[in-house]
Amino acid sequence: MFITFEGIDGSGKSTQLSKIYQKLLLDGHQVIQTFEPGDTTFGKQLRQQLTQNSLDGQAELLSFLLDRSIHITTCIKPALAQGKIVLCDRYHDSTIAYQIKAKALKASWLPLWEKENLLLPNLTFLFSLPLPVIIDRLKQRQKTKQVNSQAILAHFDNNIELLTKVQKSYLSLAEANPERICVINAALSIEEITQQIYNKITSLLSV
Ligand code: TMP
Repeated sequence: MFITFEGIDGSGKSTQLSKIYQKLLLDGHQVIQTFEPGDTTFGKQLRQQLTQNSLDGQAELLSFLLDRSIHITTCIKPALAQGKIVLCDRYHDSTIAYQIKAKALKASWLPLWEKENLLLPNLTFLFSLPLPVIIDRLKQRQKTKQVNSQAILAHFDNNIELLTKVQKSYLSLAEANPERICVINAALSIEEITQQIYNKITSLLSV
């Protein structure tokens, strides 16, 4: 089963992914946690370039897709073939929300690329929070230096106008894909959210 976690930085998705990973491991499941961009050699280079702000829009879009292709081939598909549960922090919905919708990059060819290359997740958790709360959290994290990708945050997430568009785009993706995307109220307590996600995954695993 392929499960992705999506949402704006500061929404708590990465914390929840780790908690769910631990719970599923304890239950005896074979499970891996992975992330984009970065869990490939190319992804690491991409993170570096994002921090340097050295890519134009098309190069940025193509880089995320190249990273995804490598990630699918070298990590996600092999793990699924071994019967593992794959938990992935960000995936294609990030590209749609950030590059295609919020940044409005031109990509009329994308549906064809998706048809021929994309592996769709079985389930996606979208962490949703009111924007002012997210901005407060991001400022807090930057103050306490909890993020190791400060420059990436600066590239994408200090831009409040962009953040607002990303948030709206994510929600419209959830409306368009209700069978796949499960919206999580990220304002609930950490324990409540973990339980909701765990219940949803285990109910699907038992089908
Ligand atoms: P992270 O901080 O959650 O690891 O993500 C790094 C940044 O990369 C985040 O601000 C969102 C951005 N991103 C995109 O813009 N498009 C994508 O396709 C992905 C995977 C991430």
